[in-house]
Amino acid sequence: MQQEALQEITAADTLEALQAVKTKYVGKKGLITQQLGGLGQLPPEERKARGAEINVVRQAIQAALDEKEGTLKRAALDAKLRSEAVDVTLPGLGLPSGGLHPITRVYDDLIGIYRQMGYAVVEGPEVEEEHYNFEALNVPWYHPARDLQDTFWLEDGRLLRTHTSPMQIRYMVDHEPPLKIVVRGKVYRYEATDATHESMFHQLEGLVVGEGISMADLKGTIAEMARGLYGPSAKVRFQPSYYPFVEPGADFAVYWDNPRGESKWLELGGCGMVHPNVFKAVDDLREQAGKDRIYEGMTGFAFGLGPERIAMLKYGIPDIRYFYANDPKVMGQFRGELG
Ligand code: DAH
Repeated sequence: MQQEALQEITAADTLEALQAVKTKYVGKKGLITQQLGGLGQLPPEERKARGAEINVVRQAIQAALDEKEGTLKRAALDAKLRSEAVDVTLPGLGLPSGGLHPITRVYDDLIGIYRQMGYAVVEGPEVEEEHYNFEALNVPWYHPARDLQDTFWLEDGRLLRTHTSPMQIRYMVDHEPPLKIVVRGKVYRYEATDATHESMFHQLEGLVVGEGISMADLKGTIAEMARGLYGPSAKVRFQPSYYPFVEPGADFAVYWDNPRGESKWLELGGCGMVHPNVFKAVDDLREQAGKDRIYEGMTGFAFGLGPERIAMLKYGIPDIRYFYANDPKVMGQFRGELG
């Protein structure tokens, strides 16, 4: 019986199987227990020797059971630990990361180009005085931009700036020439939205003022920007145009060599030589503030452009409204990389 029991213990490869062997031999109704219970039927002189014999067997079986139980429990614990173990060499799950908005990326490109040319980068108020947004920029009462249709007016008579050009005025009132600035920021137009129009969008405004600044400087600057955006072979084109705050005024386009083979002239913005009336308006404001009139007789150029147009073409975004709809299917594509 001892041999059989030891064989069965060796063969038991789970704790359940071992428990069955244990019950079979040393349980309450087990074979050993039955043997011990049978001692009473023996003649008294045999009982002691027989009892001792059964006990030796019982102890051998119990010892084997205990040892095997220890082995199986250790194996089970090992398996559990292994299944729960952390492999520190595995790559982590990674946190969902944000990314730079396409407009921010285009601004970064543009501002990088202008910083290299020595421009200061400034921002200004989105809630603006009518005088700075229009009059001081020589925008006459009959100019379409002054139509109630085009401007968000505040109840106090101020407005949401319709362009970044009022910062030309603010900057010149506060600073003396020579100066080179770009202005970044949001602008607002009260108009129906469609694939190419939003009521809020962005502009980059440039202003250079000094003595002897010419149209050639303006063209060279725009060409330098085009090369910065689209590489050394980028071409620029100027067409006469009208903006009240410049004379002469022009629209400029950049030949956009697109990797998807959609190369074309990209109408980027307006520009021109700062109108003498703008310098005069600045001097008037300076005088009111107790400062010297120093702008009359100065020369300068200005330009304004929309980063949305550049971003739409650069990233193949077909509708301007996607920029501000916060649809993760669109903006999620700009996650992660920060360039
Ligand atoms: N302010 C003009 C607009 O919003 C853009 C512009 C045109 C800015 C010509 C300029 C400029 O500085 O010279 O449509």
